Amino acid sequence: MAEFKQINVGVIGTGWVGGIRANACAHNGIVDQLHVAEIDPKRQAEIKAETNPASITDDWQTLIADDSIDVIVISMTPETKRYPMVMAALEAGKHVFVEKPIAPTIEEAELAYDLAEKNNLKISIGYSRRFDPRYVYVQKALKEGLIGDPVTCLVSRQSTRELGAKITGRSKLSPATIGGVHDLDFVLWCLQPRKPIRVYSQTAGKLFSQTSDTPDHQWVMVTMDDGTTVTVGVGWILPIGYPNYVQAWIEVIGTDGALTIDDTHKEVQFNTTEHGIRYPLSSMPGEPVDHVFAGSMYDETGHFLEAVAFDRPAMVTREEAIMVMDLAAAADLSVERGEPVTLPRNDPSTV
Ligand SMILES: NC(=O)c1ccc[n+]([C@@H]2O[C@H](COP(=O)([O-])OP(=O)(O)OC[C@H]3O[C@@H](n4cnc5c(N)ncnc54)[C@H](O)[C@@H]3O)[C@@H](O)[C@H]2O)c1
Repeated sequence: MAEFKQINVGVIGTGWVGGIRANACAHNGIVDQLHVAEIDPKRQAEIKAETNPASITDDWQTLIADDSIDVIVISMTPETKRYPMVMAALEAGKHVFVEKPIAPTIEEAELAYDLAEKNNLKISIGYSRRFDPRYVYVQKALKEGLIGDPVTCLVSRQSTRELGAKITGRSKLSPATIGGVHDLDFVLWCLQPRKPIRVYSQTAGKLFSQTSDTPDHQWVMVTMDDGTTVTVGVGWILPIGYPNYVQAWIEVIGTDGALTIDDTHKEVQFNTTEHGIRYPLSSMPGEPVDHVFAGSMYDETGHFLEAVAFDRPAMVTREEAIMVMDLAAAADLSVERGEPVTLPRNDPSTV
């Protein structure tokens, strides 16, 4: 077995997702000490009871200043306030795992990658679908040509209006930028080395638009450089099916076959007189069930910890991260203009 030394991890923001990350770190033998920064006293008390951290503070800069901490995980919200944390952590020589989006703009993301490379640090983004075996199977099948040459890919992802209200209440990021990026990343990852060359996107809004300018749904249609078409849709107005319920449907059609992934969680139905049918274990990051974790977030967190401890590559590369950001931003530009946008936008020949 390769030599490794245990590492110390600081998690900034331990709400729903950061709470899962903190627990994943606390349960991982690679981690010696867990440190937490959380501004909500109630969540502080809960996380303290769950994970027994070495320290807990409401000031994230305390974690940055702590030379014993090797890795910073950034799961706080709002998303728009994370970038200074990413840069401060990299500046202080710490590896960084951050929920998407990594930065407000591509230019700022590039600066973060420059700094990580300069300081020889790993940085990765929470694209958790890459750790769901069904999604990884799609990637493997395409890589091995099991359905021939891909012709078209569809991902439709819908979450509950409760989750939609939570997400839209904290930032004005579009459905493509805040939710669709998971699926844009997944599809681009599966279709490598193909690259997106054109995107058209439109939004629809009839529910949240009654009280805000937030759309209910966004479709993103992408043309890849070999002619493969991609359609990714993300919405957040489903009635509740379970707290944080999210369902997705995937179809990949190729010249020699097809793959259909039913990620709508109908395999576990829980029916009570009080609530009717609900679908447990149906949230995107997953949830603990006694001694096991049902979902991808523990494996994803562990993969990054191993990447640091054993000096292995992190899952999401710089090129992949930038391409997804560019695509999502171009989709938003397409909505604004009402017309297709050519990619990559940083290539002067395509502007
Ligand atoms: N990978 C996935 O499957 C997945 C799924 C859902 C959400 N997410 C992403 O995870 C991120 C977190 O979402 P969430 O639903 O857990 O949010 P949340 O609102 O439940 O949690 C955020 C936490 O950050 C804390 N916080 C805010 N400011 C802070 C600060 N300055 N210092 C320390 N703590 C601070 C808040 O008190 C809160 O507890 C979001 O970016 C979201 O897009 C990823």
